[in-house]
Parts: sequence; C-alpha cells; structure tokens
Amino acid sequence: MLKPVWKALACTLAFGAWGTLMAAEPIVIKFSHVVAEQTPKGQGALMFKKLVDERLPGKVKVEVYPNSTLYGDDKELEALLLGEVQIIARSLAKFDQYTKTVQLFDLPFLFDDINAVDRFQQSPEGQKLLKSMESKNITGLAYWHNGMKQLSANKPLRQPEDARGLTFRIQTSAVLEEQFKAVEANAKPMIFSVVYQGLRTGLVNGTENTYSNFYNQKLNEVQKYVTESNHGVLDYMLITTSDFWNGLPPDIRSELDKIVVESTAYANKEAERFNQQDKQHVLDAKTTEIIALTPQERNAWRDKMKPVWAKFENQIGPDLIKAAEASNKAQ
Ligand code: LMR
Repeated sequence: MLKPVWKALACTLAFGAWGTLMAAEPIVIKFSHVVAEQTPKGQGALMFKKLVDERLPGKVKVEVYPNSTLYGDDKELEALLLGEVQIIARSLAKFDQYTKTVQLFDLPFLFDDINAVDRFQQSPEGQKLLKSMESKNITGLAYWHNGMKQLSANKPLRQPEDARGLTFRIQTSAVLEEQFKAVEANAKPMIFSVVYQGLRTGLVNGTENTYSNFYNQKLNEVQKYVTESNHGVLDYMLITTSDFWNGLPPDIRSELDKIVVESTAYANKEAERFNQQDKQHVLDAKTTEIIALTPQERNAWRDKMKPVWAKFENQIGPDLIKAAEASNKAQ
C-alpha cells in the first residue's frame, strides 16, 4: 500500500500529466459560411485558416465549413451564440434583429463604389459599428468585402418600371424589402442556399447579388439578364462572440488579432478581382446578357429607390448616414 506522501505525489503526477495532455489539445475555431470557396469570403476564410496553421500550429485549429454545409444563413448566428461555431462572416444585410444601425449598408445608392464603402468602414463611425452588438455578446472583428450588387431577372431591367410586378429574392432585410417596393416590385426573403431553386421554379423572378455570388451559385443558368446597377453593397462583418474572444489566452488572442488583420487585407484586396473574373465567367457562359445602364437610366433607379432612406433615417441615425455619404469623396 502506498504511503500518503507517495499517494499525493502519484496524484500530482497523474493530474500533471493529464493537465499537460489537456493543454496540448488545440483550441478549435469552426468558421462556417454559406458561399462557395472561389469567392471573396471563401478565400478569406481559407487564408485565415492557412495563417493560423502556420503561426499557431498545435495551439489553434481552424475548420472551415463553406457552402452552408454546417449551417445556413438562417441558423449561423444562432449557432455562433450557442458556441457551436466560433467565427462567421455574415452579410451586413442580416443583422436587423441585433442592431438597427448596420442597416445603413443596405440603403440603395448610398455608396458610389467599393472604395467609398471601404473608406467608411475604416472611419471612426464605421469602426464603432463593429462594436454595436457587444451587449448581445457579438463582437465585430473586421469588415470583409464582397462587392457591389447587380440586379437580375428573366427580362431586361433598364428602367425602374421594368421591375414592376416582379418578385425579387432578398436577404432578410427590411431596407431591401422597401427598396423593391419603391419600384413597385415584390420582395421575398429567402436563405442563400435555396435561391437557385427559387429562381428555377419561378417562386421568385429576379434577385440582386454580386457577380461572385451570382456565378458561383449558377444563377446565370436561371437568369437571362443582369443589369449592372451597382445600386448597393454586399459586404460582411467577421464576427465572433465576446465570450469566446475575451476568454482566449492573451498571447493566442493577440496572434489571432494579427491574423484577422492580414486575412482581411487579403480578402479585401482580392474581392474586386473575383467579381470581375466571375463577370467574365458569366459572359463566357453565354447564358446571360449583361446590361450596362446609361447615366440617365441609373439616375432613374436612384430617384425611385433613394426615398427609402427617409424611412430608416431614425433607426439608423441621420449623422451616420451623413458620415457614410461623405465617404464618397476621397480625402
Ligand atoms: C446572400 O444571402 O445573398 C448573401 O448574403 C450570401 C453571402 O453570404 O454572400
């Protein structure tokens, strides 16, 4: 029989070994998203994983689940809050339930181009929005670009009147619903993974998205026309929970913070190239005509859609809208 002192030593050694074993287990970060890998977000997620593999081997393991394979956009935020996944990059259009201010990004014709979007996101006002959901345990780590949205349908959309009576698939967003109402069209919120089916079966007649999402979801197979309207933006907020991020060991968190900055720079630099490449893929597929609007035609869409801003001004805040508008002028 072991003497108490030896017993204590044996226990310490056993627990010590167990503790070491436990410490050796890497922290797992599940990164779930809904788009294809060959898209700005898909590539950003893979870059994040690559940098973590290189810099934090054995300490952190990133698992990327693309294409709604783990969760669709209806479930991903709930899954994050439940700790089932640790990082998502959710479209800015899908935060209504958690904050009204982020609705700003959906206002039609607010930003002239993706550079203006970028300037706003990097401004103090834009950075503040990353922290606007802290009370809900959601922390914004960065903005990731996808790009500017284009309209599509099975008939040419040149004038706003051409959209009258059609039903457009939208992301779940009150602003986007009003945007289509403004051109006397109907809007139907649908999760991303079923958009192709919805268009194929005629449940919806048209949609809006970036070229990269349009092509990678094969929407060109079910839409004969794209109107290059650049009427709004589809970008992401890379989010985690405050509990998870603040609970990380400080040295690991600070390395992850750096990796977020680097993968963000990569994703944002590549986003426009992906969209241009997928525009070319759409043209090469010869399934879909791309309509370029004249300045007058584009103004007609703007005139119809811009009154939507007034409906959301109080929820978003007029100063925030002004700050976003100001980003259209390069400093
Ligand atoms: C959509 O639902 O169209 C997009 O938000 C999908 C995405 O994540 O790019």
